[in-house]
Amino acid sequence: MSEKHKISVIGVGYVGLCTAVGFATKGYLVVSSDVDPEKVAKIKEGIPPFHEPRLTEMLKAAIQKGKLKCLINQTEAAVLETDVTYIAVGTPSKPDGSIDLQYIEAVSRDIGKALKKSSNYHIVVIKSTVVPGTAQNTVKTILENTSQKKCGEDFGLCVNPEFLRQGSAFEDTFNADRVVIGSFDKKSGDVIEEVYRGFYSPKVPPIIRTGLATAELIKYASNAILATKISFINTIANLCDKIPGADVKLVATAMGLDKRIGPLFLDAGLGYGGSCFPKDVKALIACSKALGYEPRLLESVEEVNHEQPLKAVELCKKLLGGLEGKRIALLGLAFKPNTDDMREARVVPIVCELLREGAIVVAYDPVAVNMAKSLLKDTILYASSVVECLNNADGCIVVTEWDEFRKLTPNDFRKYMKQPVLVDGRRIYDPAEFGKKLKFAAIGLGKGL
Ligand code: UDX
Repeated sequence: MSEKHKISVIGVGYVGLCTAVGFATKGYLVVSSDVDPEKVAKIKEGIPPFHEPRLTEMLKAAIQKGKLKCLINQTEAAVLETDVTYIAVGTPSKPDGSIDLQYIEAVSRDIGKALKKSSNYHIVVIKSTVVPGTAQNTVKTILENTSQKKCGEDFGLCVNPEFLRQGSAFEDTFNADRVVIGSFDKKSGDVIEEVYRGFYSPKVPPIIRTGLATAELIKYASNAILATKISFINTIANLCDKIPGADVKLVATAMGLDKRIGPLFLDAGLGYGGSCFPKDVKALIACSKALGYEPRLLESVEEVNHEQPLKAVELCKKLLGGLEGKRIALLGLAFKPNTDDMREARVVPIVCELLREGAIVVAYDPVAVNMAKSLLKDTILYASSVVECLNNADGCIVVTEWDEFRKLTPNDFRKYMKQPVLVDGRRIYDPAEFGKKLKFAAIGLGKGL
């Protein structure tokens, strides 16, 4: 193999595109392929199909330098041009919460067809999040059957989960906390380890070598503990709501100073959304149950998260004495700041509940309005600025903690709203300051409402 491997990436969704652009930026030749022609057309023009800070400039540079190609549904061609193939297709949930492996299976068949034609040793790396046993039982079996070749001899197989956060994907791509490499055969694990040693040099993060199933589980366990921390602090927040004078923010700050607990992922709010936590917790629950183990802790984590967004509506209703006919302004639509991703966004159950209560909903988000329109359609009104959103509103709920909203003062709310009623769903405002000038409530702030 050449010193710098040629890399193919199959599936250029969030994970695949960040992986492809990351390798191309580091000077690797990358050939990607995706079944969606519209997505590919955009990428070829240097336009990422989603909002991610810094991605546009790096994608454009990679394409201009000829380091990144993107093909329409040509997995075989991409594999045959390269010597390492990353699988980065989606692994959505089935209606029962279990993982849907149809895209993994389809892509494994196409890779297998290419391996049959190739005479080189090729390494297949699974980047998609897959439940323990998938690499061994599904991907390896399909690759061997389709290629008529032997895993560990004619080709290698690894699991290399990603831990990228949306909105900070580039920081995470180039400064990973750790690299996990699960391999079927030692040879392929060694090659992928070398790839990452080169990629991160001179600041190589800890590299953890495991078998396939352990690597698969590390990804789920990592997301599940973070989701657990969030549901835990939201449980404490809901308790604070019942205790006049209690404030979850101070509880979390003090807890976080204990090194064993740590300060991160203890922000109480409306719960977790996004493309990973909800799906991965559900898949881990389904996988545990299928193996005959009842994961009670994880079931509770999910349950708490399911109810959490409704707390903001409850607080708003209490402050206004009812929501019927009231105009409610929502600040933020995306599942978190710095992204336009609306998957499992907390705003969706909030909107449903507000509409059920008879409210008129108007929302503003700095980047997610278009994405939201395709999801929420014309059930709500969309504003093109904070001022337009707050104008004449009876109540306001902060749904996403964009920096733009952090800068608002109590006077901004007083100036534009019909009634100065504010619910801070993300704890971005100082209750002492906002509580004095507004009818103010916040998640985890015990006011005895
Ligand atoms: C997550 C993981 O962090 C990442 O490692 C994995 O690869 C993919 O899933 P992401 O979905 O981008 O990344 O978002 P993250 O920043 O982890 O936040 C997830 C959700 O939890 C958001 O809705 C966020 O608002 C919420 N959250 C996060 C809280 O409610 N409180 C917190 O303290 C932290």
